Amino acid sequence: MNVLIVGSGGREHALAWKAAQSPRLQRLFVAPGNPGTAQCAQNIPIHADDAPTLVAFAREHAIDLVIIGPEQPLAAGLSDELRAAGIRVFGPSRAAAQIEASKAFSKAFMARHHFPTARYTTVTGVPAALECLRTVGYPVVIKASGLAAGKGVIIPESNAEAEAALRRIMVAREFGAAGAEVVIEERLQGEEVSLLAFSDGVTVSPMPPARDHKRLRDGDTGPNTGGMGAYAPAPLCPPDMVVEFTRTILQPTVDGMRAEGVPFVGVLYAGLILTRDGVRVLEFNCRFGDPETQPLMLLLESDLLEIADACASGRLANIEIKWKAGAAACVVLASEGYPEKAITGRAISGLENPLTNAVVFHAGTRLENGRVVTAGGRVLGVTGCGDSLEHAIRRAYAVVGAVRFEGMQYRRDIADCGNGLLREADKRMGNGLANG
Ligand code: AMP
Ligand code: GLY
Repeated sequence: MNVLIVGSGGREHALAWKAAQSPRLQRLFVAPGNPGTAQCAQNIPIHADDAPTLVAFAREHAIDLVIIGPEQPLAAGLSDELRAAGIRVFGPSRAAAQIEASKAFSKAFMARHHFPTARYTTVTGVPAALECLRTVGYPVVIKASGLAAGKGVIIPESNAEAEAALRRIMVAREFGAAGAEVVIEERLQGEEVSLLAFSDGVTVSPMPPARDHKRLRDGDTGPNTGGMGAYAPAPLCPPDMVVEFTRTILQPTVDGMRAEGVPFVGVLYAGLILTRDGVRVLEFNCRFGDPETQPLMLLLESDLLEIADACASGRLANIEIKWKAGAAACVVLASEGYPEKAITGRAISGLENPLTNAVVFHAGTRLENGRVVTAGGRVLGVTGCGDSLEHAIRRAYAVVGAVRFEGMQYRRDIADCGNGLLREADKRMGNGLANG
């Protein structure tokens, strides 16, 4: 099988790393990829948003299957264009991608299908938004409706902050067109879990539940980021809960989308929060999570290409998906200044990973005169697996201890048991502690 993976982050490196192990694989391309994907695939210099060139490439190179990583090309209709050219695609259509790309669509869908979710109002003008703030009797979260690279959610601490947030989104247009419509939502309290599932539009197969660390600094402090680490399976969502949420949330979502004429093919990602009153859906994403995919690919025992191909051709019910026992965890190494303004171009050392059961996934890196240097906010996702979460995180931090670049910042409490372990590793490696 000739396969093209679209994207260039840590998620895509993890997908390429796993796809490269498939006995079905003939040739693997990543567009545009990064120095990590170049180790297991052939990078091709086509941007993920350049649909016409991607379609032409897929035709010329007899690509059998395209796996699309990021949400922007999905929301822009890349899978529709590929399908129109007769190419199989793992990833939802533009219409189905709205479940992520429009929070207004997503909330209305949840309301139509009676899913448990936060109470909300969708507004399009500042006066209506201010009126809504005055009348709702609960603490709120303010969300730009469109895609905002994970930054369009503001959790205000006061009414004044809420009003300021509305003006940032709707008047200053900090998130561009994504802020034309705003969702004002009830603020919920609880632990969060990411439940991702494969789907072919009919059948749903959940992955181990994952947990993502969104805040920059230890103890869940500092600004929100794209994710500073992740692990799976999350002990707070045991197997019986996964069965329950598949029955009450994931399957009805796929059934509802199909019934509305927009079958969902690809990865359905439910962001859930476990409140005192039960589970609530915070959001849906239409793709693999980043960094959740990094630990998930280490845990996947089955052939990723068999699964993706079965989803793309409506045969998911015919295959069995196996996951390894144990756990996996990913620690993200980020650039100085991330998430506001990442400083890039710094040489990275210590990338030679001496451990088995650990992989250094590249995210924001590039080659400069034959050396790997930093090229983005999230630079690397060091991922380990083991019999237990503790083994997995211990492995990941042992590898982290060897990697260096100027200004490197990372959390020492991924999976909540990193702290002591990393200090030990640091002592051994003579490494300075990042993040103070
Ligand atoms: P979203 O992009 O909708 O997942 O939001 C990003 C993050 O904002 C979530 O992972 C939560 O931590 C937080 N968040 C979103 N909606 C709510 C809510 N209704 N109540 C509390 N926190 C929320
Ligand atoms: N890690 C969160 C996301 O991929 O949306």
